Amino acid sequence: MNKQKPVDQLTIEEATHEVKELSLQVEEWGREYYEKDNPSVEDYVYDQAYQRLVTLEQIFPELQSPDSPTQQVGAATISDFAKVEHQNPMLSMGDVFSVAELMDFNERLQRNGVDHPEYNLELKIDGLAISLMYENGKFVQGSTRGDGRIGEDITKNLKKIKSIPQTLTQPITIEVRGECYMPKEAFAKLNEQRESQGLPVFANPRNAAAGSLRQLDPQVTANRELSTFMYYVPDYQTLGVTTQSEALTALVKLGFNVNLNNQVATTKEEIADYINGYTQKRNDLEYGIDGIVEKVNDLALQEELGSTVKVPRWEIAYKFPPEEAATVVREIEWTVGRTGTVTPTAVMDPVLLAGTTVARASLHNPDYLQQKDVRIGDTVYLHKAGDIIPEISTVELDKRPADSVEYEIPTRCPECDSKLVHLDEEVALRCINPMCPAQIKEGLAHFASRNAMNIDGLGPRILEQLFERKMITDVADLYHLTKAQLLTLDKFGDKSADNLLTAIDNSRHNSLERLLFGLGIRHVGAKAARLIAAQFKNIEALMNASSEEIASVEAIGPIIGDSVVTYFNNTQVHELIQELQNAHVNTEYLGTATEVKEGPLTGQKVVLTGKLIEMTRPQAQEWLETQGADVVGSVSKKTNLVIAGSDAGSKLAKAQSLGIEVWNEEQFRAAMKEDS
Ligand code: IVH
Repeated sequence: MNKQKPVDQLTIEEATHEVKELSLQVEEWGREYYEKDNPSVEDYVYDQAYQRLVTLEQIFPELQSPDSPTQQVGAATISDFAKVEHQNPMLSMGDVFSVAELMDFNERLQRNGVDHPEYNLELKIDGLAISLMYENGKFVQGSTRGDGRIGEDITKNLKKIKSIPQTLTQPITIEVRGECYMPKEAFAKLNEQRESQGLPVFANPRNAAAGSLRQLDPQVTANRELSTFMYYVPDYQTLGVTTQSEALTALVKLGFNVNLNNQVATTKEEIADYINGYTQKRNDLEYGIDGIVEKVNDLALQEELGSTVKVPRWEIAYKFPPEEAATVVREIEWTVGRTGTVTPTAVMDPVLLAGTTVARASLHNPDYLQQKDVRIGDTVYLHKAGDIIPEISTVELDKRPADSVEYEIPTRCPECDSKLVHLDEEVALRCINPMCPAQIKEGLAHFASRNAMNIDGLGPRILEQLFERKMITDVADLYHLTKAQLLTLDKFGDKSADNLLTAIDNSRHNSLERLLFGLGIRHVGAKAARLIAAQFKNIEALMNASSEEIASVEAIGPIIGDSVVTYFNNTQVHELIQELQNAHVNTEYLGTATEVKEGPLTGQKVVLTGKLIEMTRPQAQEWLETQGADVVGSVSKKTNLVIAGSDAGSKLAKAQSLGIEVWNEEQFRAAMKEDS
């Protein structure tokens, strides 16, 4: 492929050859992206190839075939879902990669007779497009874009997403479009979880959202944290509005989640400022954005401008340039997780990337490492997947040292030297030795962690010493530790020993869900543990339950059901539970009622947003929950209070537009103080 040569200097033979090659490539990448939710190249590599093809077809129109990927919209539908024919086609969007190109677009509009239009600037959310149909205010059907004409019916899955209202505030019949996305934190958590379970990780939040939504089992969608921003109403007359910015406000009033970081602009300076501002701020947002969308604000004018076969003429996307940094790989480290997965991490010279210093990047699993062919001494380019997780994009082969050798995947556990295996064809390499010290130590740390048994002061360094000195071999041993033993630990005095013993003792009185989560049963996260504990009330009942009985708990599915049964179907586990009970560790569900105080926040729906300075989000949430508040993820008209830290974004804006009470961190701390 003659990539370097400007298109207008190509001969017709060269161009024919390149169009053929590029069409196949773009088509294949498109399939990976839209249908398999598993792209093999970065978005900008795809965008560049796509743009090159568009330019080629513009300069050599005779080479454009109706089958060209530039003439299709998104994905063909995959067959497992019912098909939905869109009442209005769901088009894609033209894009530009510089402010200069954006200005060209605007000038073209003006040359075509649009006189100094007002633009509504919006964030381009990195998710997937959805269409929601409401009849007399009731949500009746939701679909994906598909090929633009026919989408997939994913109503059941969309019903599991909290930010999608089932009933609108007005009984109207309307189609609303927007983006379904996975917040960055949820994306990071999901990938971490998948990595530890030996499952392939998602390349970015968009693919994670698409993969979570295109599930035949709606329960999977329910267990994934997804949210939405709605931004478009084809029949705007129904809303009685005349501009896009008014349409957004009207959507908020109907009960939708809307991204209110939009801004109306008319001048080049305003547009450039908005773009520059969000280029800086994008890393601080809770969701991924991949650009800015500029829309003609006047809806009647939008209609007049209409669209080409593929894209509307009244809007354009400005795509952010990729943020990359180059550095050198010095080492590949292998760590053993709680479930035995052995994960490689590239250790590199520290480099500044999108606001943070990065020196480590996960290589996920041996397949991934081999596919990228990362070697020690290689110069690599880093980017941040989903704007937060550092990842190696490419290896700079020109800079590879002459004596470089392919990296050899270990065959033995770096901790216990037992043979590593791949279970059930999973990509992860695993140490299956249940006595592997690394796994036991990770398991102990998890047991003591905040959301599990919450044993303050029992961090990894202390656990390491207790374990190495053979004072503990499993979690039950923690309850037999003596002060004399603790006093032998490094830097341990009278006071720290007493404090730790008290913390361990206090953990005996935890409610069942903390113990269940702390045991580290595969697939049982803190939330699942809470739901299961609330249903079965004590550990004996749970141990006697069948997989179906567990799976029938609301929001719990067969995967968790099977996993819990498998876990308890083991004599060693029975012995461990017995030992814990002998050590007077509570195995009953105590409910939240016993810990909750009655007060002004009891029963109130509270949303936390933005950055808190003097406490972490989990700390804030924990305190709110002890007050009986229901901490929820998104702002709706049912929200009673929003606590907004610094840099709060759309949730704050939405709260303000709905007239919901908002506290800043200071007001929040004052309330906490009153309680103490
Ligand atoms: S407007 C008629 N607004 O970007 C066109 N799209 O690359 C309606 N997207 O297909 C689309 N944020 O999935 C619009 N604020 C926003 C958006 C947005 C993200 C997505 C959408 C679209 C894709 C094009």
